Amino acid sequence: DDLDSLARDIREAACVVALTGSGISAPSGVPTFRGADGVWDHFDEGQFTYGRFQRDPAGFWRDRLELQRALFGSSYRPNVAHEALARLGRTGPLEAIITQNTDGLHDRAANVQNDVNRSVDNDCDREYSEDGGRTNQTEPAESGETEPTDPQNASGASILELHGNAHRVVCVDCGSRTPAEPVLDRVDDGDVPPRCDCGGLYKPDVVLFGQQLSKPTLQRARSLARESDVFLAIGSSLVVEPAASLPRVAARSGATVAVVNLEETPVDRHASTVYRADVTEILPRLADLVESV
Ligand code: OAD
Repeated sequence: DDLDSLARDIREAACVVALTGSGISAPSGVPTFRGADGVWDHFDEGQFTYGRFQRDPAGFWRDRLELQRALFGSSYRPNVAHEALARLGRTGPLEAIITQNTDGLHDRAANVQNDVNRSVDNDCDREYSEDGGRTNQTEPAESGETEPTDPQNASGASILELHGNAHRVVCVDCGSRTPAEPVLDRVDDGDVPPRCDCGGLYKPDVVLFGQQLSKPTLQRARSLARESDVFLAIGSSLVVEPAASLPRVAARSGATVAVVNLEETPVDRHASTVYRADVTEILPRLADLVESV
């Protein structure tokens, strides 16, 4: 069937890239942003912008604590879909997982520590293999803020967290990163806005609305999309730019694009195949088929 033929394409591909969204973490109990009972039905997106953070950091952090508890309040772990991708990274030609998620579950599925000092990886694009494409050019320019490098297992796919990682905070002055949980506890105790030892404000280490993605990360994601022979768009509504344009970049460069989503997406008409199904049903089967030769 369709899945057989996708598995064949994956086996024959030199470069396979996956783009994931919150739908892949939904079966782990992390709520999605849009759709039935989405987070943005319960929270006002407008309160979580970079502008609000700058204007009213104390109020921003109080609301952020609520959002963070709603997103990651219960204990959750990678599900079979994360694990299937990790497997395709270890044993197959999956070069990179580009994720919009800030939950760190791809790292955990690959058994990568959520470490601020991560190792440099290779990817399909030789252009970036020298330095991993990572220089300190975070946008908007916040003095001293550096880019964390991507994690990679010895043989796994590289994981590109396009929107950052909510389990870290970053100091907007000195750029140092630290785990979020103790900082959230301080917010809970009324210590708002939380500050770094250097006196600078802490910001969740995520891309807020109104903030640009870091240029090197975005360039790298685009090169991966262009270089890919097979591009999998998994569990994302594909409405938030610039991530949403990556499948189209891949399709224009001749990649086989497959969409896995319970609902229709704007990318479906550019896709070679659309699986209107649960990620936990499709991805383990796909990984099995790719490995079954
Ligand atoms: P969305 O919440 O917009 O979309 C989740 C998608 O996953 C929907 O299209 C669902 O149909 C689909 N879905 C849910 N459960 C699924 C399942 N079990 N199997 C298959 N599909 C499933 O999430 P994203 O596309 O990730 O931005 O959202 C993109 C960005 O918007 C997020 O990164 C965040 C948000 O505002 C920032 O924080 C900057």
